Amino acid sequence: MNVKDLLSLKGKIALVTGGAGNYGKCIVEGLAEADATVITASRNIENSKKFAQKCIANGLTVHVMQVDQADHDSVMSLKQQIIKKFGRLDVFVNNAVSRPMSGYNDPIELFEESMRVNATGMFDILREMTGLITLAGGGSIINISSMMGVFGPDLTNYEGTDMGDMPPDYFFHRGGLINLTRYLARMLANKNIRVNCISPGGLFNNQPKRFVENYCKKVPVGRMANNDDIKGLVVFLASKASAYVNGENILMDGGMHA
Ligand SMILES: NC(=O)c1ccc[n+]([C@@H]2O[C@H](COP(=O)([O-])OP(=O)(O)OC[C@H]3O[C@@H](n4cnc5c(N)ncnc54)[C@H](O)[C@@H]3O)[C@@H](O)[C@H]2O)c1
Repeated sequence: MNVKDLLSLKGKIALVTGGAGNYGKCIVEGLAEADATVITASRNIENSKKFAQKCIANGLTVHVMQVDQADHDSVMSLKQQIIKKFGRLDVFVNNAVSRPMSGYNDPIELFEESMRVNATGMFDILREMTGLITLAGGGSIINISSMMGVFGPDLTNYEGTDMGDMPPDYFFHRGGLINLTRYLARMLANKNIRVNCISPGGLFNNQPKRFVENYCKKVPVGRMANNDDIKGLVVFLASKASAYVNGENILMDGGMHA
């Protein structure tokens, strides 16, 4: 098969949770540029609509749906909407994240809130969307974790800034998502579903200058991730080009941990 055909997502229906967020927007755009019909789903429908309008103006096919993945009824409602509108789902990018904690000493209730969204709710939506992909005869699931799901915090990145009190919940659920990827890759293989994970490094988003300087010194390519960096990887994992890649976690960190 020609490599352009292998990478094409023409005719595919792809769902991106947290599609209105920083990495989410890049992922939605990348999949749509590879000719997928993309559903962007977030809690905040207004932000999603604004971004979808921009994509549509650029000739991309992007639809907006609302979901709170911490709420089972909302997840089931999203599922029904997808069935009604498209009748199928081929690709699920499990990207949404909630960050209720900001540091080690935060109230334990915030850890619990985080688990409701990032562990229980995340698994709920993943399992329901897997059901849809199964009905379509198979497809691809891409979990978005973080390099912080693989490594502990590098506190020297925060020297000279008021950042640096790292949220424990994030390191816990990002790490869990990577091993859940391996579990699912084995459990779902007989349904013709591949499950992979991308663990990105920090996306440049006008962070404090000192942080960016500290951070970039550690990255062999000399910079933070930009808006294009994740696009190719997501399209690759969503497409036939990665048909023999399953259960993998790809660190996308500019070589920071090479
Ligand atoms: N931004 C980075 O530098 C960075 C670095 C490494 C990994 N990541 C990973 O990238 C992914 C996206 O992170 P981001 O920084 O773009 O996030 P973000 O905070 O910019 O966006 C998060 C999105 O998730 C949605 N969301 C939150 N709670 C939800 C819920 N209950 N139901 C449905 N949607 C909900 C929000 O509405 C938002 O659209 C995450 O998996 C994160 O771990 C981000």
